[in-house]
Amino acid sequence: MTILVTGAAGFIGSNFVLDWFSQSKEDVVSLDLLTYAGNLENLSSLNGSPHHHFVQGDIGDRNLVSSLLKKYQVRAIVNFAAESHVDRSIHESKDFIETNIVGTYNLLESARSYWNDLDKNLKQDFRFLHISSDEVYGSRDLTDPPSNESDPYKPNSPYSASKAASDHLVRAWFQTYKLPVLTVNSANNYGPYQFPEKLIPLCILNALKGKPLPIYGNGQQVRDWLYVKDHSAAISEILKQGHIGETYNVGGRNEKTNLEVVETLCAILDELKPKSNGKSYRDQITFVKDRPGHDRRYTIDASKLERDLGWRPQETFETGLRKTVLWYLENAAWMGHVVTGEYQDWIQKQYP
Ligand code: NAD
Ligand code: DAU
Repeated sequence: MTILVTGAAGFIGSNFVLDWFSQSKEDVVSLDLLTYAGNLENLSSLNGSPHHHFVQGDIGDRNLVSSLLKKYQVRAIVNFAAESHVDRSIHESKDFIETNIVGTYNLLESARSYWNDLDKNLKQDFRFLHISSDEVYGSRDLTDPPSNESDPYKPNSPYSASKAASDHLVRAWFQTYKLPVLTVNSANNYGPYQFPEKLIPLCILNALKGKPLPIYGNGQQVRDWLYVKDHSAAISEILKQGHIGETYNVGGRNEKTNLEVVETLCAILDELKPKSNGKSYRDQITFVKDRPGHDRRYTIDASKLERDLGWRPQETFETGLRKTVLWYLENAAWMGHVVTGEYQDWIQKQYP
């Protein structure tokens, strides 16, 4: 049988597919619309594999998704497909509503119709695993406890509101139709293949180009950082052992302020790629206008996943960040290919 991975040419989706093949012989159908964030180069090591089938298309295209589910006898869907960048959602939210809400709705309906027609055993084993975010819980103060799975949703950005809406749809399809769903709410991911609009790869790129490292506001906002391969491992485990209808939080136990993140990054770059003038990359740190509605802190309680499924993150922030920086240093060509015209337009708009 086969799993269907949507958004498989994006950052987390591609890491998940590559990691899947390192521990499973089961085929993967990768469905991706190839928006600005989708990059087939991320999956190029699978070219020619008879076990990997890439299809360009929209999760909202019910005819396409239904035909893929039947053709490949899909036994699980892992839904990464989304518009994922908060700053873009602030400039223009239409695509976030279309893909994250309407797209998820259509994907749920395609899955439900396929699942309804499955034989009893296949029906029992089928899973719809939806990937979501810790941002749905909203901003926490520094003294607040971490968000757990039963905390109320309080999304603050168009992006997080669209993800929250999709989570509610997924939950409703379980409660109403008994579709066997699982939801995964994860902290900030970092690692190979992340598009350089997000904080860490943007700062690696800018550092190496001698450009400013833009810190929004005072840089004291806190995020929990999860190495993407730890996230892949968590998802595989949840797919295998998770209880249907349940939500699992995933976090790295690595809460850092944005300033700490960028300073650590500069220290690693100073060591691995020292500047010819002997100065530190820290000198490029520049405080810029804050993000509107910028959430102060995300903090996630992953103890349910740790306790019930035995998952633990393997990387500390320092080990994961070092691996990430090394990957970007060794993959300058990948970076060269993604900073295209569209990327330059975005950078002009966001960092005038
Ligand atoms: P990404 O932007 O790198 O990738 C998203 C992928 O989805 C792209 O390949 C894009 O082409 C594809 N896509 C977009 N619209 C589509 C559509 N309508 N049909 C099919 N494919 C479509 O995002 P990411 O960082 O890899 O995030 C993946 C998922 O994880 C998202 O659901 C995001 O909300 C969630 N998430 C991300 C993080 C993070 O730190 N990056 C943390 C928690 C949760
Ligand atoms: O928390 C999970 C979320 O993490 C995911 O759901 C989102 O898909 C993902 O994009 C990420 O959202 P963030 O907004 O936290 O990630 P981003 O890399 O955009 O920003 C991280 C922090 O760094 C945030 O507090 C804003 C700040 N920042 C970001 C950029 C791009 C800066 O200070 N400067 C920047 O230039």
